Amino acid sequence: MSFDLILFGGTGDLAWRKLLPALFQAFRHGSLPAGGRIVGVARDDLSDAQYRALIKSRFDDVDLAKRPNEEEFARFADRLFYLRMDLSSPADYARLGTLLSTHTADTVVMYLATAPGLFTTFCEQIAIAGLNGPQMRVVLEKPLGHNLASNRAINESVRRVFSERQIFRIDHYLGKPSVQNLFALRFGNALFEPLWRRETIANIQITIAEELGIEKRGAFYDSTGALRDMVQNHALQLLCAIGMEPPINAHADAIRDEKLKVLRSLKPWTPETLRQHVVRGQYSAGTIDGQAVNAYRQEIGVNASSSTETFVALRCEIANWRWAGVPFYIRTGKRLAGRSAYIEVNFRPAPHAIFKSPMGAANRLVIHLQPKDGLELHLFAQGQQNRQQSQAQGHPDSRIGQTLAPVQLDLDFDKRFGSERVGAYERLLLDVIDGRLNLFVRSDEQEEAWRWVEPIMESWKNDTEDPRSYASGTWGPSASSAMIARDGYCWTEEC
Ligand code: BG6
Repeated sequence: MSFDLILFGGTGDLAWRKLLPALFQAFRHGSLPAGGRIVGVARDDLSDAQYRALIKSRFDDVDLAKRPNEEEFARFADRLFYLRMDLSSPADYARLGTLLSTHTADTVVMYLATAPGLFTTFCEQIAIAGLNGPQMRVVLEKPLGHNLASNRAINESVRRVFSERQIFRIDHYLGKPSVQNLFALRFGNALFEPLWRRETIANIQITIAEELGIEKRGAFYDSTGALRDMVQNHALQLLCAIGMEPPINAHADAIRDEKLKVLRSLKPWTPETLRQHVVRGQYSAGTIDGQAVNAYRQEIGVNASSSTETFVALRCEIANWRWAGVPFYIRTGKRLAGRSAYIEVNFRPAPHAIFKSPMGAANRLVIHLQPKDGLELHLFAQGQQNRQQSQAQGHPDSRIGQTLAPVQLDLDFDKRFGSERVGAYERLLLDVIDGRLNLFVRSDEQEEAWRWVEPIMESWKNDTEDPRSYASGTWGPSASSAMIARDGYCWTEEC
């Protein structure tokens, strides 16, 4: 199958760090269809050769195992081209048209890895230039807007030019193998379904923690913040995956219909819950991996008195028959004590204790998303199994078998399937080329997510207090622990 992949923002951070390395991996493993061109588009004045050289130099930052050797890069480079374009210039769309006419492609993918402010202009100009044929697909990177109104405006302008089946709104979390395994766990196994409800589950915690700060994205991040950058999209998509009803089949719309229902069922905010159930924080200086790191306000591109949040913790509820009353906690932040993303499903304790159990004993399923990819099921077994051990600890023999100790079943998908699995961007790029929409977000899902986070953004606008400070290298402000403790629970590392 032949394709043209036009990468707008072809010299940007996302292209260097994620998209081009992902395309190279697909190429290396033979999954990139043979007859395809990749065209980087940006405003810089570069020749094809200069663009290829630039990409080659950028690959030096990629993990050693994922870096091309000379021969591999030379073959990959044959697929790479460059087009200088100003997205507001009609003449430049004519040049794009000429470039496209030099190759017969079954599919043309326009990947907009640019500032979302350009999306509307792009769509208008593509239509004027007559480039919106049926073989065209458009990929929109997040954040799609900065609130509900701007999200709607972008979606409307894109829909005026492309039909919904041509629009691929990307949330790279959906492309992660670990997130696909979450769907497999829930809908490929009958085991958990009877337990997946309010009668058996006490609470669910979703954590996406990063050690990294904002790197070189100060200006972008300072006008975005963790709520828009992580909660509105990645965290809510995880919430949907964990909370949705089983879809009737695995088709894109069946899955997206069920995710949409979860978003629509989220309990609306009240002034009281906004105060009690949302914590925003901002990192101060601290230590990560033994290295001193700056406070957020000292980062390049950030306003010295910025009140942008780099941490959010919140408590929400899905108001439906399955989940009514079960708290879902979401927590995400930069410069935290570790890089880890996981979902913890905390079951209710046994209704009647006949054994001596550790304090607060209850079963727990931990779904590790990264860096570990796997499952842990926390159970209880008889602790004092060994007579000698038991005597050494001063227990009489009669106590053997009466005390429970925590044990766990541990499934490591990297060990089981190998850590060389297809990465998120690689998977999603191949899906776009193949026209598979399952792992992309529909406009109504996106709008619903914006609608739900908007009251939080509004309440912060009127808040005269700064976000709560937390030292880099910790798990966020103490208010986040206090929020969950009010329900009698704790975040994993504090229990
Ligand atoms: C991006 C955010 O969408 O996701 C970044 O813009 C964040 O701020 C990144 O660092 C996290 O992705 P991952 O795959 O590293 O967990």
